[in-house]
Amino acid sequence: MGGQDDYEIGRELGRGNFGRTHLARHLPTGALVAVKTIERGERCDRNAERECLNQRALSGLSPFVVSFREIFLTPTHLCIAMEFCSGGEVFARVARSGRLPEREARRLWRQLVAGVGACHEQGVCHRDLKLENALLDDSADPPTLKIADFGYSKSLAAAESDPRSRVGTPAYIAPEILHCSGRPGDEGYDGRAADVWSLGVFLFVLVAGCYPFEDPGRPRDVVEVVRRILAARYAFPPGLRVSPGCADLVARILVADPRRRLSLAAVRAHPWFLGVGTAAGDGDGAGGGGAADPLPPEIAEEPRAAVARHLARPPVQGMQTEEEIRALLAEARRGPGRGVGVEGGGGGGGGGRVVVARASSAGAGGGGGGK
Ligand SMILES: Nc1ncnc2c1ncn2[C@@H]1O[C@H](COP(=O)(O)OP(=O)(O)O)[C@@H](O)[C@H]1O
Ligand SMILES: [Mg+2]
Repeated sequence: MGGQDDYEIGRELGRGNFGRTHLARHLPTGALVAVKTIERGERCDRNAERECLNQRALSGLSPFVVSFREIFLTPTHLCIAMEFCSGGEVFARVARSGRLPEREARRLWRQLVAGVGACHEQGVCHRDLKLENALLDDSADPPTLKIADFGYSKSLAAAESDPRSRVGTPAYIAPEILHCSGRPGDEGYDGRAADVWSLGVFLFVLVAGCYPFEDPGRPRDVVEVVRRILAARYAFPPGLRVSPGCADLVARILVADPRRRLSLAAVRAHPWFLGVGTAAGDGDGAGGGGAADPLPPEIAEEPRAAVARHLARPPVQGMQTEEEIRALLAEARRGPGRGVGVEGGGGGGGGGRVVVARASSAGAGGGGGGK
């Protein structure tokens, strides 16, 4: 089992609401990894614990979910060591080009759907799917999408209640979550269906380069965003050519009533996802083309079969147990300890033509405790 002495911490890769993520070298193996740091003390709460446990439970189950390595403590931080995704956020990829050609959008979105399928199959809903939390591994060509940031994730296992609290990122949040009071006794919502909603928003942003529920004239008007989400009222930008198949899929996902929304299985059976029946114009003149675009085998495999295949492999040697992780979390919660702290690295950089503004994560109020 490793510890902080095993890592040399480098530049900052990115930061969100809960912590900073640094590039690091795992000294015993020389491998580059990403290390997410969360301040010790009250930030190492039950949500941080869930993040660690859920990421551990999912590790190695899908090529489209960031692999977990281990957690360790520095005197100041809880650190989650994981697979490094060298291609950065999908957000930056879209911001660079404004939007993606439909075929490229489909390639990445299929991987996202496959990754979410594995999470749901393992009983975990992500609850904060967005372009900033989808990373690219560009060690492969073309790059592979990997789902990251399980900070809002929730286990659907019997031991945990239905999701009840209002978490997520406003631009991606499902209507039923906004309806949810967050109080005990509230019926809660189906975390899987809420993830599917976010998948719909994600697809929209990929092909349109803007958010579906924002008033272009007043993008910061959150009240208007919420009003539009509740009514599932969105429109593609005028003049944007989206194929009928893609528009149909988005329309069947962005349905306010979660019982009438496509399930993940139905998404996987939709003609645009399958890349069949696209002669009616699968394309936006930017690379969509009218040609069929068959599912690659790793996407065609049903999530249940894919997860079962991965579970059948021998477990990773030396993987921390749940108990070990819980014990480290408990220690982190007590506040700063001894040892050497994580140094801040250089800035994350960025640049490029940002068309969509980053969606700020926030608990949408209510709820209070108990994500
Ligand atoms: N495994 C990784 N590889 C490369 N970059 C990462 C990795 N994990 C996180 N990052 C970068 O750090 C940012 C913040 O990490 P994230 O887990 O989303 O934290 P938060 O919970 O604070 O949003 C990400 O949006 C991404 O830019
Ligand atoms: Mg994040």
